[in-house]
Amino acid sequence: MSSVARAPGRVNLIGDHTDYTGGLVLPMAIDRETTITFTASPHVELTSRDFDGHVRFDLPTASASTVLPSWGRYVAGVAAAMSERSMAPIGFSGTVATTVPIGGGLSSSAALEVAAALAFGIEADNATIAAVCRRAEHLATNVPCGIMDQLTSTAGVKDHALMIDCHSLDITPIRIPDGVSVWVVPVSARTLDGSEYPMRVAQCAAAEREIGPLRSADLAGTNNIVDRVIRARARHVVSENLRVRAFAAALAANDLHDVGKIMYEGHHSLSRDFETSTPAMDAAVEHFARIPGVHGARMTGGGFGGCLVILADDDAPIAAGADSDGHSDAMRVRAADGASLDTPLS
Ligand code: GLA
Repeated sequence: MSSVARAPGRVNLIGDHTDYTGGLVLPMAIDRETTITFTASPHVELTSRDFDGHVRFDLPTASASTVLPSWGRYVAGVAAAMSERSMAPIGFSGTVATTVPIGGGLSSSAALEVAAALAFGIEADNATIAAVCRRAEHLATNVPCGIMDQLTSTAGVKDHALMIDCHSLDITPIRIPDGVSVWVVPVSARTLDGSEYPMRVAQCAAAEREIGPLRSADLAGTNNIVDRVIRARARHVVSENLRVRAFAAALAANDLHDVGKIMYEGHHSLSRDFETSTPAMDAAVEHFARIPGVHGARMTGGGFGGCLVILADDDAPIAAGADSDGHSDAMRVRAADGASLDTPLS
């Protein structure tokens, strides 16, 4: 009898490029997930329903970043990251399938990592599993990501977004109000591998060398940064942390006007100060902002392409608006529970 490990993707409502400086984020796990159906095995053998190739490696793994086909690197990265912590991974043989769009900014890689960790028999709390999977992403791709994606995939709460303090890892679930839908609109495919993401991480580190931790800095402090570009990066991070708090309060109070305003402000900050948006994403935000019933829209996730997230009344004509703008793959997503493992009763 097979076991099934499931892990959801995520969409971030507000709080981008804050996690790797220990700031605040407000994502939700979504009802699109990656599943690995497996039985225990002495090594690791995996086929994919969505991708070509067959991943096979022995445990313990050598170098995760050279495994082929390349989707297997995330799986090997998890095995390697578990071994680093002396959490001996158990081999498995199985099939992976996903309903998370790949490379669209919805954390398909985090979903694969978390599902793999469960299949490898990890036994730890959500934050530890997420930390192992974050390390796996670093080993697999060299992208120095933060912990948001993996922690959202492990700790998601149905019908709720999660305000996460990425320093303390405290999580505050905030209910999505009734009558409000969350939509995701893919604008352009991309991977963070090869993007300027590592440069942004380095620029934030440079800002912190000048003014100390960005998570506790204020806007006045960022004005003291000498370099214009580093100053702008820091201004985004510090203002984004403020936006997360304000958004959480507005969402809990069902003040959708404020929620939307904060989303647009967040987009402009990413576009102007952090420079992770693209002209196509800016145009798409403007397009959806004009649709009746839309409260707010912004790019979501690492950027340089990817998706928009939109908050709108349930009956807002988003699908029609997406069709007219050439984004017919817009999808309504619901906040979902985090990862789980189903084992057969013996
Ligand atoms: C990617 C990373 C996350 C986070 C976002 C930007 O999704 O994996 O850790 O930094 O970008 O908010």
